[in-house]
Amino acid sequence: MEKFVINGGKPLRGTVRISGAKNAAVAILPAVLLSDEPCIIENLPEISDVATLLDSLSILGAQVKLINKTTVQIDPRGAGSYVVSKEMAEGMRASSYFLGALLGRCGHAVVAPPGGCDFGVRPIDQHIKGFETLGAEVSIENGMVEAHASDLFGGSVYLDMVSVGATINIMLAAVKAKGLTVIENAAREPHIVDLANFLNSMGANIMGAGTNAIKIRGVEHLHGTSYSIIPDQIEAGTYMVAAAATKGDILIENVIPKHLESIIAKIIEIGATVTEYDESVRVTMKTRPKKCTIKTMPHPGFPTDMQPQFGVLLSIADGTSFITEGVWESRYRYLEQLAIMGADFKVDGKTAMITGVESLKPAPVKAVDLRAGAAVIIAGLMTKGETTVEQIQFIDRGYEHIAEKFTKLGADIKRVTVSDNAANTKMA
Ligand code: EPU
Repeated sequence: MEKFVINGGKPLRGTVRISGAKNAAVAILPAVLLSDEPCIIENLPEISDVATLLDSLSILGAQVKLINKTTVQIDPRGAGSYVVSKEMAEGMRASSYFLGALLGRCGHAVVAPPGGCDFGVRPIDQHIKGFETLGAEVSIENGMVEAHASDLFGGSVYLDMVSVGATINIMLAAVKAKGLTVIENAAREPHIVDLANFLNSMGANIMGAGTNAIKIRGVEHLHGTSYSIIPDQIEAGTYMVAAAATKGDILIENVIPKHLESIIAKIIEIGATVTEYDESVRVTMKTRPKKCTIKTMPHPGFPTDMQPQFGVLLSIADGTSFITEGVWESRYRYLEQLAIMGADFKVDGKTAMITGVESLKPAPVKAVDLRAGAAVIIAGLMTKGETTVEQIQFIDRGYEHIAEKFTKLGADIKRVTVSDNAANTKMA
C-alpha cells in the first residue's frame, strides 16, 4: 500500500504535459475487438485502468504488444472468449464496454457487473435497452450480465437520460449490426467523438457523434488502424485548478482548448487569468478565489468529473458558494475529507453549500474515489504543512504519474510505502 505525503503551501509554476484521455482509452481498447485486423493505439495514458483493460484483452485471447510506454499493438484475431469475469471487471466501470464490443464481435457476451467509483447507484438499464433494441436477449444470472444475439439489426434508441456509457456501448454493438441504428439523446462528450473517429478509421459508418443524434450504418468488416487518443480534458482541468488553488502559474500543454470551455469559463469567474493557445492553456492566479455557483451537466455543460476539484477551490473562496450535482445521485464524499482539513460545508441532497475559510489545515486524508483523490491532493498542495493522502490506488486508476508531474511544477509530494503493520492498525 502507498500514500502521498505532501508539504503544501507553495505556488505551482512551470509546464505540464497532458496525457491521453482515460475515458476515451477505456472505450477504444475494448472496441479493438471489433476489428478483423491488428490495431495500433497511440497516446494511451499510463494508468492502472488501461493496464487492467490490456490484461483483460489478453485473457480474452487477443495478442497485446507494448511498442512503447504509450503505444500498443493489439491483434484481436485470437480472442476466442466472450466471458469477462468478476476479477477482470472489478474496480472498473469501463468493463461494461466489453458487453457492447463482444456482442458486436461474436453475438455473445458474459460480463460481470462493472465496478468503478462509488457515487451512488450506477445502473446499466439504458445499455440493456439499447442491446435489446438491436435484437439481443439480455439476462442477469449468477451475478453476470449475459447478452446474446444470433444477428443484430439496427434500430432506434431514445436514451431516457444522457448516458456516456450507454451511448458508447450501443455504438459498439451497432457498428457491425445490419442496417441503421439511431441513438437519440446521445451523450456528446469528447470521448464519444474520439471513439466514433476511431471506429470510422477502421471503416465504420458513424455520423453525428458530438451531437445528440448519432447515426450508425452497420458494416460487415472493420479493418486495422493506427489511432492516437485525444488529450484528457479532466486531467487538464485538474492542473488548471491546481494552478488557481496554489496561486500559481502553469502552462498546460497538449490540450484541445475547445474541450475545456466550461472549465475555463468557471475558473475565470473564480478569479484566475486564462490564456488560450492552439494546443495549450496558461492559468495564473494572484488572489483568493471568488465564490461561485456550479451545476454539473452532461457535455457541453460543466463536467461532474471536475466537481470535487472545484469544491476544493471554493472551500477557500471569499464567500458562500453553491454546487448542484446534476449527473450523479451523490458525489460529495470528498467534502467529508475536506472537513478533516477544516472546510465548512452543508450538503442537502444534490446541493452542497460551501462557505470559504481563509485556509485549510494540513491533515491525514483519504482518496475516496478517483476525482475525490485529485481533489484532496490539490487541497494538500494549497495548504501549508504536511498532508497525507491514503488509498491512492484510486488516483492511479486515472492520473498518469501525478506525483512526478506536480513535483516538476515545484510541489513537494512524495509517494511512500505504508507498512502492512501501519495499514492493519488503521483498518482494525
Ligand atoms: N444512468 C442510468 N442508467 C444507465 C446509465 C446511466 O440511470 O443505464 C445514469 C447514471 O446513474 C448517472 C447518469 O445516468 O446518474 C450518467 O451516467 P453515465 O452513463 O453518463 O456515466 P458512466 O458512463 O458510467 C462516464 C465516466 C464517468 C463520468 C460520467 C459522466 C467513463 C468510464 N466514466 O461514466 O467518469 O462521471 O460518464 O460524465 O467514461 C471519472 O472519470 O472519474 C468518471 C467517473
